[in-house]
Amino acid sequence: MIKAFIRDIPKAELHIHIEGSLEPDLMFAIAERNKLIRPFNSIEEVRSAYQFTHLKSFLDVYYEGAGVLMQERDFYDMTWAYLKRAHAQNVRHTEIFFDPQAHTSRGVSFETVITGMHRALVDGQRLFGISSKLIMCFLRHLSADLAMDTLHQALPFKEWIIGVGLDSCEVGHPPEKFTRVFDKALEEGFLTVAHAGEEGPVEYIHQALEKLRVSRIDHGVRCVADTQLVKKLVEAQIPLTVCPLSNVRLHVFDSIKKHNLKHMLDLGLCVTVNSDDPAYFGGYITENFLAVQEGLNLDYNDIYRLVKNSFEATFLDKQIKQGLITELDTFISGYNQKDIRRHKGKTFAHTIHQSALNNKSYDRESFGSA
Ligand code: HPA
Ligand code: ZN
Repeated sequence: MIKAFIRDIPKAELHIHIEGSLEPDLMFAIAERNKLIRPFNSIEEVRSAYQFTHLKSFLDVYYEGAGVLMQERDFYDMTWAYLKRAHAQNVRHTEIFFDPQAHTSRGVSFETVITGMHRALVDGQRLFGISSKLIMCFLRHLSADLAMDTLHQALPFKEWIIGVGLDSCEVGHPPEKFTRVFDKALEEGFLTVAHAGEEGPVEYIHQALEKLRVSRIDHGVRCVADTQLVKKLVEAQIPLTVCPLSNVRLHVFDSIKKHNLKHMLDLGLCVTVNSDDPAYFGGYITENFLAVQEGLNLDYNDIYRLVKNSFEATFLDKQIKQGLITELDTFISGYNQKDIRRHKGKTFAHTIHQSALNNKSYDRESFGSA
């Protein structure tokens, strides 16, 4: 039952690298039409290359895959394929990372990259009703000067980009390396986010908050090692965009059962669930929810809180955000009609709303399990 609830609930996704949504079959088709030597010989070879030991070993494969993207149409098709899947999983709003330097470094223009993606996002809004934002990430293993060049290339397309982020190899590339670039981005009106505390130390989360003035932390699962930091994140309700299947595939946690998502939720952190690189890590947003629900024995209220956190954490205007939260709450009430589950005279929706109002979890035992 809870599985159907997870599938049906309207969702927002806030941590998805669009290049990480490139499935092997589309990668092959694009390589073929661009007359490129395919990065892999067969789908089986691709799949067997997806045995990662850590972040760097994944990134090597990820950049290789992204290397097939040459024309505007390729960026359109990749983005459209993601939107189709997101729509099928009831994603109502998505904030998408892209890595311009992975393409401009190969001679593909910034304009080609962003125009293809933007066109797909416009179609996603028109045909699926999915709203979206783009977040441009700097590759942290490259220099701050190259990041600054990229920021300048983005300025003519400012209207299409809500914020800037920081991704790629974390360890050895602290957020403070990019302070000047992020200062300039903030001055230009971009919001900021950064990957921090995925493989890197807790100190990087502090730096992202203080030096890069981020609105959200991407991953951030290592924050639990620092009580003062947790207190700060809880008080300010700084969202953490957590990606459970990614964390397991990259050995940040040994298994889904060992993931600290439930612990973070219980600490009062504004945790969200996302897919990161769904084509590489074994699933899109719904599969991530299903995995943590089963692995960590999450209840309906946990799922509702995770989804609500995502909507709260979006970079949408207040009114549009409120509209989506109302849609979520309407879903909860409607769900109750379809699936009448009564307990002590109270409906499921009532129980969820009451516990949200009281800001506490309802009693799993008394409600019964999935
Ligand atoms: N972590 C850091 N950088 C990335 C990732 C990731 O999971 N995916 C694409 N770039
Ligand atoms: Zn990521």
